[in-house]
Amino acid sequence: MTIDYALIAARSRNSVIGRDDEIPWHVKGEQALFKKITLGGCLLMGRRTFESIGRALPGRISIVITRQQDYAPEGCHVAHTLEAAFHSAEQTKRPIFVIGGGELYASTLAQARWVHLTTIDLEVNGNVYFPPFPTANFTCIHTEHFQSNHAYCYQTFERNPTENV
Ligand SMILES: NC(=O)c1ccc[n+]([C@@H]2O[C@H](COP(=O)([O-])OP(=O)(O)OC[C@H]3O[C@@H](n4cnc5c(N)ncnc54)[C@H](OP(=O)(O)O)[C@@H]3O)[C@@H](O)[C@H]2O)c1
Repeated sequence: MTIDYALIAARSRNSVIGRDDEIPWHVKGEQALFKKITLGGCLLMGRRTFESIGRALPGRISIVITRQQDYAPEGCHVAHTLEAAFHSAEQTKRPIFVIGGGELYASTLAQARWVHLTTIDLEVNGNVYFPPFPTANFTCIHTEHFQSNHAYCYQTFERNPTENV
């Protein structure tokens, strides 16, 4: 059985999503967009991303993925494999969002049904990247441009239907 889930990420023009433990920009309005899209959902995140956020995000269920057996962040569920994380997420009956970081995006993009991708109009130095995207498997179904302290563009991509053979 396949599980429908979305990735949500913000990247620079050169596909940077992070520098060490941080997101290397501050763009007014972009966090509000993230909140609007994910509110009420179930969030899957890597342990490093959780620690960079520092807390469970309100109005959403957080599942932190780690190989550390004794990891117990307050207000979050913990999973030790991707399979266990998606299984727990599915039980919540909420929309599922993979919110990062680079390691999680790289291991979940191949099966994602939707990708919510914000591209910040900046070239930045960083050491964590979003995987090469879009691919021919996805179609852009929504595009919205925003002016702020840095311009940014929000797009929704949906996986193309596969034909039954
Ligand atoms: N721009 C954006 O939209 C965005 C969004 C999110 C994050 N970020 C940035 O991305 C960076 C963090 O990304 P990252 O790639 O370094 O780390 P990450 O993907 O957030 O977390 C990696 C950690 O998750 C755990 N993990 C990953 N795959 C696992 C698996 N299959 N089974 C069990 N555990 C697994 C491991 O934790 P343990 O080491 O504990 O075992 C691993 O070290 C930060 O700079 C952050 O600011 C940017």
